[in-house]
Amino acid sequence: MNNDLQTQRILFVCLGNICRSPTAEGVMLHLLKERDITSIVVDSAGTSAYHVGECADRRSQDAANRRGIQLPSRARQFVVEDFDRFDWIVAMDTENQHNIIDLARSTLDQKKVHLFRDFSPSDDVGLSVPDPYYENNFSQVFDLCMDCCIGLLQDVIHKE
Ligand code: 4NP
Repeated sequence: MNNDLQTQRILFVCLGNICRSPTAEGVMLHLLKERDITSIVVDSAGTSAYHVGECADRRSQDAANRRGIQLPSRARQFVVEDFDRFDWIVAMDTENQHNIIDLARSTLDQKKVHLFRDFSPSDDVGLSVPDPYYENNFSQVFDLCMDCCIGLLQDVIHKE
């Protein structure tokens, strides 16, 4: 992968890679397109292999499509090489955040790992994006992803 200095690479990570992280990925791709930003690369992955190869959950796709946003992801599992490929590894919840940190090989790897809601404009520090797979709160998760992506994008642009 090309690692030129200007390009920032963001990886969103949840458990199954079919609901939360594909939503965050689709929202961020939408924001980048809207702003004509081509220097930021986005992907998503799951800490589990439960749904590898699957498209985003139909309910996540419906919630995004209602706002005119597509979710292009195909589920894959997080691999340790993702620490080399990405500058920002953004976990959807604290459990996945800790599971990723456990895979870190160095303090440099650890420093790349962030919690998504820490970027929220609201006072959400330390909070998780709820898992909609069983809770069925897909619209709420979409709205959280939108708020946090806007905050994250501001931080990433300032680090470019
Ligand atoms: P996600 O949601 O981590 O946001 O993709 C889930 C999807 C599937 C399962 C759990 C969470 N599952 O247990 O199969």
